[in-house]
Amino acid sequence: AVAALTPKRLAGERVLVTAGPTLEEIDPVRFISNHSSGKMGYAIARQARLRGAEVTLVTGPAALSAPHGVKLVRVQSATEMRDAVLDALERTDIVIKAAAVADYRPRSRRGQKMKKSEAELCIELEKNPDILAEIGAMKGGRLLVGFAAETQELVKNAGAKLKAKNLDLVVANDVSQEGAGFNVDTNIVKLLYRDGRVEELPMMGKDELAGEILERVEVLRGATAG
Ligand code: CTP
Ligand code: CA
Repeated sequence: AVAALTPKRLAGERVLVTAGPTLEEIDPVRFISNHSSGKMGYAIARQARLRGAEVTLVTGPAALSAPHGVKLVRVQSATEMRDAVLDALERTDIVIKAAAVADYRPRSRRGQKMKKSEAELCIELEKNPDILAEIGAMKGGRLLVGFAAETQELVKNAGAKLKAKNLDLVVANDVSQEGAGFNVDTNIVKLLYRDGRVEELPMMGKDELAGEILERVEVLRGATAG
């Protein structure tokens, strides 16, 4: 019923969504990752599909099933996510990056399980590519939506990301609040636009928030009501 009632305002649009954490291997049994559940990105993919878009969902490890009608590309590390995203980019009109990409990865992956020996262990980390910033630098006519997870100075920090990554919209999430962010079913966000506008949304479920975000995307794409 919901699908039939949703106006297909994104028909003809090719939407690329990223979701979940990335996982960076240390050795064959250990890794670095984060608490992202993937729920936000999967909800966005589902809602984009309901609105008639052709949707590709590039996802890190998440215990969620593929939304109906969405092309799912499973990846593990940030490097793999970058390759999958760049691969799909040419056939994409709208990019929505909800993934919690690990900022760093171990400098080298050990081929064998590491043995415990010393009392302390240092693992050297190197920076991962910033996928969204890379897309922003070769944006073309695409619409780019990013997320920002912050624990302080939400608007200032998220606004800086919008500029630095050449985004059209940033979903700023104060993850220090209860009911927001990683591994919960709700989010409390502010939406920041290129013209400096800031829109505050009340706490809501991730599916509902996904719908709100896509409504803004439709407006930014200049879709007419129908
Ligand atoms: N992002 C990305 N590639 C990375 C890191 C982040 O594409 N290597 C994207 C995320 O998917 C998100 C946005 O950039 O849409 C912001 O992520 P966030 O972690 O909030 O910001 P960072 O730019 O990584 O900065 P910091 O973690 O230092 O706040
Ligand atoms: Ca980060």
